[in-house]
Amino acid sequence: MAISWPLVVSLLLSISSLATSASNSDSVHEAFVQCLLDNSHPSHPISEAIFTPQSPSYATVLQSYIRNLRFNETYTPKPFLILTALHQSHIQAAIICAKKGNIQMKIRSGGHDYDGLSYVATVPFFVLDMFNLRSIDIDMETETVWVQSGAILGELYYRISALSKTHGFPAGVCPTVGVGGHLTGGGYGNMMRKYGLTVDNIVDAYFIDVNGRIHDRKSMGEDLFWAIRGGGAASFGVVLAYKIKLVHVPEIVTVFRVEKTLEDNATDIVDQWQHVASKLPKELFVRLVIDVVNSSTRTGGSTVRVSFISLFLGDSKTLVSIMNENLPLLGLSQSDCIETSWIRSVLFWTNIAIDSPTDVLLNRTPSLSYLKRKSDYVKQPIPKTALEGIWEK
Ligand SMILES: Cc1cc2nc3c(=O)[nH]c(=O)nc-3n(C[C@H](O)[C@H](O)[C@H](O)COP(=O)(O)OP(=O)(O)OC[C@H]3O[C@@H](n4cnc5c(N)ncnc54)[C@H](O)[C@@H]3O)c2cc1C
Ligand SMILES: *[C@@H]1O[C@H](CO)[C@@H](O)[C@H](O)[C@H]1NC(C)=O
Ligand SMILES: *[C@@H]1O[C@H](CO)[C@@H](O)[C@H](O)[C@H]1NC(C)=O
Ligand SMILES: *[C@@H]1O[C@H](CO)[C@@H](O)[C@H](O)[C@H]1NC(C)=O
Repeated sequence: MAISWPLVVSLLLSISSLATSASNSDSVHEAFVQCLLDNSHPSHPISEAIFTPQSPSYATVLQSYIRNLRFNETYTPKPFLILTALHQSHIQAAIICAKKGNIQMKIRSGGHDYDGLSYVATVPFFVLDMFNLRSIDIDMETETVWVQSGAILGELYYRISALSKTHGFPAGVCPTVGVGGHLTGGGYGNMMRKYGLTVDNIVDAYFIDVNGRIHDRKSMGEDLFWAIRGGGAASFGVVLAYKIKLVHVPEIVTVFRVEKTLEDNATDIVDQWQHVASKLPKELFVRLVIDVVNSSTRTGGSTVRVSFISLFLGDSKTLVSIMNENLPLLGLSQSDCIETSWIRSVLFWTNIAIDSPTDVLLNRTPSLSYLKRKSDYVKQPIPKTALEGIWEK
């Protein structure tokens, strides 16, 4: 077999340049680890928080907070190091050393980022993992809570409900979402009509800036405090904790889930819903989820199903009368409604049996899928003909 000379040369060249870059990056990584060790305090040793691909539990630690199977592939770029911070000084060390070595740092709290931004990068990177920092300090006197970034929404809701039946917090409906990413990015939930977005209910924060300095709201200033409530705090530094304001919920709330298919005139009901949803009392939230199911009437055929899922901060009698006045086509009846506590409404909304022990909300590991999500906003009702076009798709 004849191999042309230029090809051999270019192969050799690329092999040797690979070897050089590998040893370069090895020394960069070693210097980074050394920097972490040099910058940690003897009373809070950092070595037990460092995981490299050579550590036996590296893969487990990395996968623990991957929440999208698209990024659990062998070809998904992996961090050269994971730092599972045990103390704020570890975060300070991570920032100082990343800056010194000009190394990309990814901050991960609950790992629910739709595109894996908290644990994937296209350049060499390490992950600052926040899950160990998840204390929740509730002060019923002032109705405020200091919650660390590594907490998940479920444990926040659970801790609140353990102290009060009439307090809640307006954040997302998925209990395994992390406080860190959720509170830096906005936060939609089923109480937002009454209480606004999650970020509207943040009153203070501990934030570590690019120089490793810890700030509260006063020392960071109002501009930065504004930016880390919706702007994606990772662009500015690391949020250690947020101080949030609790909201009042009645001891009894009402939930329902009513499903209608095209054969039940779902299109007309969706049309009516679009015209009234924004005008309902603020205590009432009605969400639609639309999917495709087998038709019970058309053999072998499929149909569109619209599920109307609701939370009402009040009793079922009032709810039925509001619904029949505003959305009569749905035909809501008392028997569709479940009166329960706010914390059990959280279970209901996440499809957990409503009579389950509420400490299931402490469970940090959801079942995973491959997902890609994108949001859009409509400012006018979608006409019925357009809805029918969507059903066709
Ligand atoms: C199944 C599922 C259900 C969801 N349900 C809702 C919902 O009901 N309502 C809603 O509003 N959203 C919902 N979301 C979106 C979710 O709120 C965001 O993806 C949120 O950013 C996730 O936060 P996290 O801490 O879990 O994610 P992560 O992936 O850990 O972080 C997300 C982003 O925030 C950055 N970040 C994380 N922690 C910090 C920190 N301490 N300091 C600075 N930056 C940080 C990360 O670097 C990354 O860029 C859902 C997402 C999923 C996957
Ligand atoms: C993620 O990938 C690893 C390695 O292939 C695998 O062992 C693990 O089960 C995967 N996680 C999930 C939740 O599928
Ligand atoms: C659907 O609407 C038509 C026309 O308004 C009506 O005759 C029919 O009874 C409705 N079907 C259901 C299941 O409500
Ligand atoms: C729908 O029907 C198909 C066959 O027509 C079947 O394979 C499938 O399991 C059904 N799905 C559900 C959710 O019943």
